[in-house]
Amino acid sequence: MKDTDSTLAQFDQTGAERLEKIYLTPDVVQQREQIFQLLDVKPGMQALDIGCGPGLTTLALAQAVGGSGQVDAIDIAPPMLAMAARRCPAQPQVKFHQADILHMPFAAAAFDVALATQVYEYVADIDAALRELARVMKPGAQVLLVDTDWESCVWACRDEARMRRMMQGWSRHIPHPQLPRTLQQRLQRAGFADVQAHTIPFMNMACTPDTFSGGMIGFIAKFVGDLPNFGPQLAADWQADVRSMEEAGGYFFSLSRYVFVARKPLD
Ligand SMILES: C[S@@+](CC[C@H](N)C(=O)[O-])C[C@H]1O[C@@H](n2cnc3c(N)ncnc32)[C@H](O)[C@@H]1O
Repeated sequence: MKDTDSTLAQFDQTGAERLEKIYLTPDVVQQREQIFQLLDVKPGMQALDIGCGPGLTTLALAQAVGGSGQVDAIDIAPPMLAMAARRCPAQPQVKFHQADILHMPFAAAAFDVALATQVYEYVADIDAALRELARVMKPGAQVLLVDTDWESCVWACRDEARMRRMMQGWSRHIPHPQLPRTLQQRLQRAGFADVQAHTIPFMNMACTPDTFSGGMIGFIAKFVGDLPNFGPQLAADWQADVRSMEEAGGYFFSLSRYVFVARKPLD
């Protein structure tokens, strides 16, 4: 089994559509706005969207660099790339590439700015991926990485043991479910400097489909329900338990995203 097989299975057509819905919720729209406030992107720049997914960040980058700039967007999953391309029909400055972030199809020192939201945690050999990122960035260029530490997840329920079991299963959806706590050192080892970190919290008091957790609950139940030794009954009971907290007026979900901003040093 290749490292990317699990990612490709998660982002098939159904997974891509499910992710797009979650990433259009106000929680994630607001997250994107906060990220773009930290991103040093200007008209005319060469920008890179790494693991572009549904293309929401690609479109925002295209608008920021304008017609005089260029955005290269890469993703490993064809359904994601197709969705992203449909989102950018009027942006000739965007080029899409099916590629693994370990081997990007770009010359050295090609980009002024790069963005990767929720992508590096999917890659087993992070250090090689960050060295590849350093290769394609220009001296002085900015990179912005967003990842989640799933141990920051606080979710009210009645059965804590079952919640722990579900989170244990869910942590298998990526090779690095606690990546942010090592990113500062990893970025420095890959040759980046001026590393800054920020948190973006999600906080939901309802489990409606227009919230991040209301979208994620089905995503998590499907993934863990399909795992051997976990199974659909566990996932269904867990989902019913968490949802029942809302009926009782005690729904509580919180999770932190971590944003790392760094620069490739000037030669
Ligand atoms: C959780 S989604 C995030 C999408 C997008 N960055 C966003 O925030 O809207 C993760 C994306 O990373 C892509 N991905 C994961 N591993 C990858 C790899 N090794 N090379 C390229 N893309 C990858 C997936 O296919 C998926 O589209």
